[in-house]
Amino acid sequence: MKYLILSDIHSNKEALAAILSFVRRKPWDKAVCLGDVVGYGANPNQAVDMLKRLRPLAAVRGNHDKVCSGLEDGELFNRIALEAAMWTRRKLTKVNSRWLRALPQGPVVVDNTFAICHGTPIDEDAYIFGEIEALNVFRHTEYPITFFGHSHFPVIFALSPDAITTILTVAPSFRFKLREGVRYLVNPGSVGQPRDGNPLVSFALFDSTSRRRTRSSRRAFPARSPTGSRSAASSRGRRVRATQSRTRPRAAGPGGWAGPQPGPGARPKRPPTRSWLRRSPRSASLRTLPSPRRAGRPPPRDGACAC
Ligand SMILES: [Fe+2]
Repeated sequence: MKYLILSDIHSNKEALAAILSFVRRKPWDKAVCLGDVVGYGANPNQAVDMLKRLRPLAAVRGNHDKVCSGLEDGELFNRIALEAAMWTRRKLTKVNSRWLRALPQGPVVVDNTFAICHGTPIDEDAYIFGEIEALNVFRHTEYPITFFGHSHFPVIFALSPDAITTILTVAPSFRFKLREGVRYLVNPGSVGQPRDGNPLVSFALFDSTSRRRTRSSRRAFPARSPTGSRSAASSRGRRVRATQSRTRPRAAGPGGWAGPQPGPGARPKRPPTRSWLRRSPRSASLRTLPSPRRAGRPPPRDGACAC
C-alpha cells in the first residue's frame, strides 16, 4: 500500500494543488492528513474541499482545526495565529466547520501499519523538536512507525536498540528505507507553511510493502508576491530545486510563510524585489538549498511556531 502523507496544509490551496499535480503521475492508494488543514492561509474552504476529495482518507485534527472550527478558543495562540483563526472561523462554511470538528484526536492507527498524530501520540498539541522529545515519545508508545506534524519541520527520528538518530531530509527529494527492528517518528514537513527556511511545499510518500520506503519531496507552487507578480518558474510547473536564502525567515503571518528576511548582520542593500522567489542568475532553476550549518540546527522554538 502506498500512502500520500500530508500535514499542516494551513488553507494553502495552491500548495496542496501543486502536490496533487505532482503525485498524479505517482500512484498512491490512500491519503493521510496529520492535521492543521486550516489556519493562516487565505483559502480554508477550498483546502478542506480538496482534502475531502482525496478518498480514502485517514486524518486527525490539528490545533488550528480545533480553534478555527470553534472546538477551542485559542487562548494559547499568539496574536497573529489567533487573528487568522478567527478570520478562518468566520469564512468556513457550516459543512466544512462540522467536518473539521469531527476529525478525530490522534493518535490513529492506519491499516494496522502505522500511527498518525498531529503533535505527538501522547499530547496532540505538544511538539517534537529534537531527540529528547522524540525519545520521550518512543518510551511512552509502542508504534513502530508514527507520522507526526505540528512543527512544520521535515525530519525523521529513528530509535534502534542502542541509539536514537536524527535524519534530516535533503531537498528537493529524499528517499529513505525503513529498517526492521528500528522504530521511527517521521515528520513529512508542512504543505502550506514550511518553517525550515525552505519555502517549497513539503510532503511524503510512504510505501508500506516489504521494502518500507519513505520519500519526502519538496515542490514549488504558484506563489504571489505582495505586488501580485507570480513566481514564473513555479507557476509554469517546472521542476525547480529547493531554495533557501541565507537569510532568516520571519514569523509567519495570516498569509502564510512570509518569505526570507535579512538576518542580523546582513547588508541591507537590495531594494524590494517583485518576487522573493527569484531565478538564479546562473541557471533557469531556482536554487537555495539549505546550508549544512542551518540544516543541522533544530527548528526555532519561538516566533515562527505560532502556537
Ligand atoms: Fe500547523
